Amino acid sequence: MPNIKFNLIVSTCENNGMGINGDLPWRIPSETEYYLQITTECKEQSKKNAIILGRKSWEATPWKPHPNCINLILTRSDDLDLSGYPDTYTCKSLADAVQKLEEDEDLKKRVGDVWITGGSTVYKDALNSKHFYRLYHTRIFHPYECDTYFPTIPQHVKRVEDPRIPQGIKEDAGHKYLISVYENLNFNKE
Ligand SMILES: NC(=O)c1ccc[n+]([C@@H]2O[C@H](COP(=O)([O-])OP(=O)(O)OC[C@H]3O[C@@H](n4cnc5c(N)ncnc54)[C@H](OP(=O)(O)O)[C@@H]3O)[C@@H](O)[C@H]2O)c1
Repeated sequence: MPNIKFNLIVSTCENNGMGINGDLPWRIPSETEYYLQITTECKEQSKKNAIILGRKSWEATPWKPHPNCINLILTRSDDLDLSGYPDTYTCKSLADAVQKLEEDEDLKKRVGDVWITGGSTVYKDALNSKHFYRLYHTRIFHPYECDTYFPTIPQHVKRVEDPRIPQGIKEDAGHKYLISVYENLNFNKE
């Protein structure tokens, strides 16, 4: 079984869109609150969750670094200035991020859950990885103009329950949304 389990988390609108002009197309405070809570809370108090995200998503994030988490930013560049951001590192690829989490003696002891928070190529790589464990998907019942899209959800998943997610259709700031959790049926199969 892979040591590292990827939990992907995303919100999409009706056309599967998830971003525009380097930003989110919507503002839904209760959904943001859920996102921050589930990605930051860690079962073991001595550990912190790791957040893996692409460079553009890092730049788009209003909170930097992700609070109380270990941040791994994917970039092929050597020039990203992360001075002043604690527990924040760059990685050259998703595989490089996994290697860092599995082999860095300090991180190995401190990492709790691993969350993948975008953007589109990072999600795509993660969905195709043996480390893909769960997808936390917020479906927003509204069409938005987007220029960035979530990849197709693979067929080899099943819906599962997680008591931490808001249940049923929620309404906030004029938006209706529903959060579903999918688990990879191939996880743990060699
Ligand atoms: N709705 C949501 O839940 C959600 C979540 C996340 C993001 N978003 C939105 O999506 C947009 C950003 O996503 P995006 O897909 O355009 O960009 P992104 O994946 O966040 O960033 C792309 C950059 O990340 C680096 N990168 C990506 N994959 C890599 C890999 N495998 N190896 C090494 N580096 C890699 C590259 O950086 P370099 O160019 O520096 O090499 C690439 O240019 C924004 O609009 C954001 O608001 C929405």
